[in-house]
Amino acid sequence: MNILLLGSGGREHAIAYKLSQSAQCQNLYIAPGNAGTAACGTNLDLNPEDFEGVKKCVEEKHIGMVVVGPEAPLVAGIADFFAAEESLRNVKLIGPSKAGAALEGSKDHAKAFMARHAIPTARYRTFTAENVAEGEQFLESLQPPYVLKADGLAAGKGVLIINDLAEAKQELHNMVEGGKFGQASSRVVIEEYLEGVEMSVFVLTDGHNYKILPTAKDYKRIGEGDTGLNTGGMGSVSPVPFADKEFMRKVERLIVAPTVKGLAKEKTPYCGFIFIGLMCCNMQSADGPDPYVIEYNVRMGDPETESVFPRIKSDVVDLFIHAANGTLDKATLDIDPRYAACVMMVAKGYPEKYAKGREISGVDEVEGSLVFHAGTRRDAEGRLLTNGGRVICTTTLSESLPEALLKSYYAAEHIKWSGRYYRHDIGQDLLRMMIDRQPL
Ligand code: AMP
Ligand code: GLY
Repeated sequence: MNILLLGSGGREHAIAYKLSQSAQCQNLYIAPGNAGTAACGTNLDLNPEDFEGVKKCVEEKHIGMVVVGPEAPLVAGIADFFAAEESLRNVKLIGPSKAGAALEGSKDHAKAFMARHAIPTARYRTFTAENVAEGEQFLESLQPPYVLKADGLAAGKGVLIINDLAEAKQELHNMVEGGKFGQASSRVVIEEYLEGVEMSVFVLTDGHNYKILPTAKDYKRIGEGDTGLNTGGMGSVSPVPFADKEFMRKVERLIVAPTVKGLAKEKTPYCGFIFIGLMCCNMQSADGPDPYVIEYNVRMGDPETESVFPRIKSDVVDLFIHAANGTLDKATLDIDPRYAACVMMVAKGYPEKYAKGREISGVDEVEGSLVFHAGTRRDAEGRLLTNGGRVICTTTLSESLPEALLKSYYAAEHIKWSGRYYRHDIGQDLLRMMIDRQPL
């Protein structure tokens, strides 16, 4: 089968790496891809949000399966576009319908969905410019810190956590009246602050059946000790050591099963990934932590995919075929029990202003670790250049988490360019928890 993968990040390189290992993958195309995906298949100069362009490509290259990496084409309705086009209807598209993608596209929709299906999440209300005074009152009824979320997609920046009540009220006005996050913040979800440890759960579903993929933890802040600005993610670890079998049974019973059942009950076509951001509260409870949903995403995480996908031993094309055919209950999912640790290397200045076009050296010297490219490209002479904020990452599989981390750091040390930066504390909180049995 010829497969088209949409996207260009480290997530897509990790997905392309697994797709290309399948005997069922004949030709793999990645649009637009990066210098790393070019080693797994053929990169195409095509914008994933240009649906007509995608259609033309699918027809010309006889594509049998399209895997959608990022959320934007999903929220814009690529699955509905495929379902409506005669020539695309039989193409297996891995990604939910527009109605399904609204779980990520609208925080208010996601919260209302969770309320309808009694899925544990923080108490909330939604406000617009019309009822901003009620929004102020709701803030007064909550304890600090205050959590304000732009309803729509805001490039991962739409969440404010504020300690001061007056400041929270001001920001509420800035969001709903001043367009702080543009149209995305014309509606704002205000919710209770949850204290706990965050982790991510990934699910592949056909809309009725599901498989729970390996868990992961990512490191969102730019600075060590989780300080500074939010980024797309500076590293990841899989599995999450405290998410043992008992805890995952709780997550499945309280969250995963009701989510998939809820989608089916509401007749929402959903073939693809559900990425559930969890806050694990009451970490010291005798019954283990209590999971609450912080957010849904309708895609895999980045850089979580770079530690989750290398642990999937099963043929991912086979899994995706089952997902598209509605037969995921017949699929097998084998997971490598080893730990995976991913260290993301970024351009100095990221997530704000940074330079592109710096030459990268040392990638070929890495042994025993995987290297996934994010923002990279090759110039006409074949030199590898930086081409984004998050540039490249190293992932290592190992029997122990400390060894996986050490080896990924050792590999990262080989990869150099001027202005390279990475956090040195990926996974340290988990190691400390394993030693102390205490969360930070
Ligand atoms: P979101 O985009 O909804 O994932 O929010 C971004 C980040 O804000 C999350 O990864 C959490 O670290 C934090 N956050 C969001 N909602 C809450 C909440 N209700 N309580 C505590 N932290 C939160
Ligand atoms: N690493 C978080 C995300 O992909 O949204």
